[in-house]
Amino acid sequence: MAIEITAEKIADFEGQSITLKGWLYMKTGKGKLQFLRLRDGTGIVQCVAFRPEIGDELFEQVKRLSQESSIIVTGKVRADERAPGIPGGYEVGIESIQIIQNADVYPIGPKEHGVEFLMDNRHLWLRSNKQWALMRVRTAVKRAIIDFLDDNGFLNIDTPIITPSAAEGTSTLFEVNYFDQEAFLAQTGQLYNEANIMAFSKVYCFGPTFRAEKSKTRRHLTEFWMVEPELAFCDLQDLMKVEEDFVSYIVQRVLDERKQELEILGRDLTFLKKVQPPFPRISYDEAIERIQAIREETEDPELKELLKIEWGDDFGSPHETELTKEFDRPVFVYGYPTAIKAFYMEPWPERSEICKSVDLLAPEGYGEIIGGSERMSDPEQLIDAIKRHELPIENYEWYIDLRRYGTVPHSGFGLGLERTVAWISGIAHIRETSPFPRTILRMRP
Ligand code: 4AD
Ligand code: MG
Repeated sequence: MAIEITAEKIADFEGQSITLKGWLYMKTGKGKLQFLRLRDGTGIVQCVAFRPEIGDELFEQVKRLSQESSIIVTGKVRADERAPGIPGGYEVGIESIQIIQNADVYPIGPKEHGVEFLMDNRHLWLRSNKQWALMRVRTAVKRAIIDFLDDNGFLNIDTPIITPSAAEGTSTLFEVNYFDQEAFLAQTGQLYNEANIMAFSKVYCFGPTFRAEKSKTRRHLTEFWMVEPELAFCDLQDLMKVEEDFVSYIVQRVLDERKQELEILGRDLTFLKKVQPPFPRISYDEAIERIQAIREETEDPELKELLKIEWGDDFGSPHETELTKEFDRPVFVYGYPTAIKAFYMEPWPERSEICKSVDLLAPEGYGEIIGGSERMSDPEQLIDAIKRHELPIENYEWYIDLRRYGTVPHSGFGLGLERTVAWISGIAHIRETSPFPRTILRMRP
C-alpha cells in the first residue's frame, strides 16, 4: 500500500511507495520518458513516467496532460541529485496515475508576462513558484510577529474596523455608510490600544487597516495589515529597544524557517543576517543635515533635484533611500516636526516644534516599515492638539478620559506587514506580498 505524503516531506520516504495529490506544474520528455513536475502546495516533486513500466495507453494519456491538470500519482521515491523540485533531490518513478482533470489551456506560461496581465490573473498567478515563496515568507513573518509578542507579555486584543473618528489624518479615510451616520474604515487600532493598555498593560492588535491614499507608489496599498503593539509605562527610548528586538527577531526567524523560499526569490541574505540590535538612532535634525550633505556632494543632477529638502519637510522615498544607504541595518529617525505628524504625539520637552515620534527605516531602499511614538499623556495638551487638528472633539471624549483616570507615559508603534515582507523578500513592489492586493487602481480579482 502506498502512503499518501506531501512534497515537502519527500526525503523521509526514500525507497517507499507513496501517493502525491496535486497539479502539473511543468512537463518535459523525450522518447520513452515523461518528466512531470507535480506541485502539491507544499513543494514540487519530479515524477517520471517510463513507457515500459506504465504501459502504452497510460503513457499516451500522460503525454497529452496539460499544464495545471489535476492528478494523483503513485510510485516509488528515489534519491537523484539532479531531480529538480522544491526541495528537489528526489523523484518518483510513476507506477500509476489518476487524472482528475486535463486542464484547459493555462493562461500563464513559462514566457514573460506583463505585470498587469499577471495581476488580472492573480487567482492563478499565486500558483507560481515566486508567488508561492512570497506567501510563505508572509506567513512566517506573521507567525514570528505573534510569537515574539505573545512570548514577551503582550496580550492580543482586537480593535474595531468600523470607527467614527480619524487617527492618522482625515485625508486618507474610507467612508462607510453606517445606518446614516458617518463612519470610516480604521486606519489604525492605536487609539483603542491606548484604552486597552490601561486595562492590560501591554497589548497588540494585528489585522487589516485601510488608507484611501491617492498614492501610486510601490509601497502603498489601500488595504494592508498592520501589527500595533502598545505599552504602558514606556517612553520613547524604551520603545526603540522593543522595536529593534522585535524586527531582529522577525528577520532571524524568517532566515531560519524560509531559507528555501528566500533562495527561490533570489534574495541576497548578507543584509538580512546583519539585522541585529542595536540599530542606529538619528534625530530628524541630523537626518536633514545628512540628506543635505549627500545632496551637496552628489554630481547626479537628477538626484540633486530629488533630494531637495528643508527642515520641516517630510521625507520622500528618495530621502529615505539615500539616508539608509549609509547604514547596514534598519535606522531609527526620531523627533520629527510636530506639524507633519499625527495629533496624539507627545511634544519634545523644551522644544514643542518637534515630537517624540520615531520611524524605523529599512535599508536597501525599502524605507519606513514602522511608525510609532510616545503618546501625549496630559489631558489639556491633548484637547489643544485635537482642536488644532480641527477634529470633532465629541468623538475623542473617551480617548481624553484615558488621560483623566490614571494617565501614564505610554508608547506604541505600527509595523506594516506587507512592507516588511517586501523588504525581507527583496521584491520591488509591495503588491506581490498580498494574496489579493488592493491599490488605488485595483480591487479585482
Ligand atoms: O506610520 P503609520 O501611519 O502609523 C500608524 O498608523 C500608527 N497609528 C501606528 C501606531 O503607532 N500604532 O503606519 C505604520 C506603518 C508604516 O510604517 C508602514 O509600514 C505601514 O504601516 N503603512 C502602509 N503599508 C502599506 N500601504 C500603506 N498605504 C501604508 N501606510 C502605512
Ligand atoms: Mg508613518
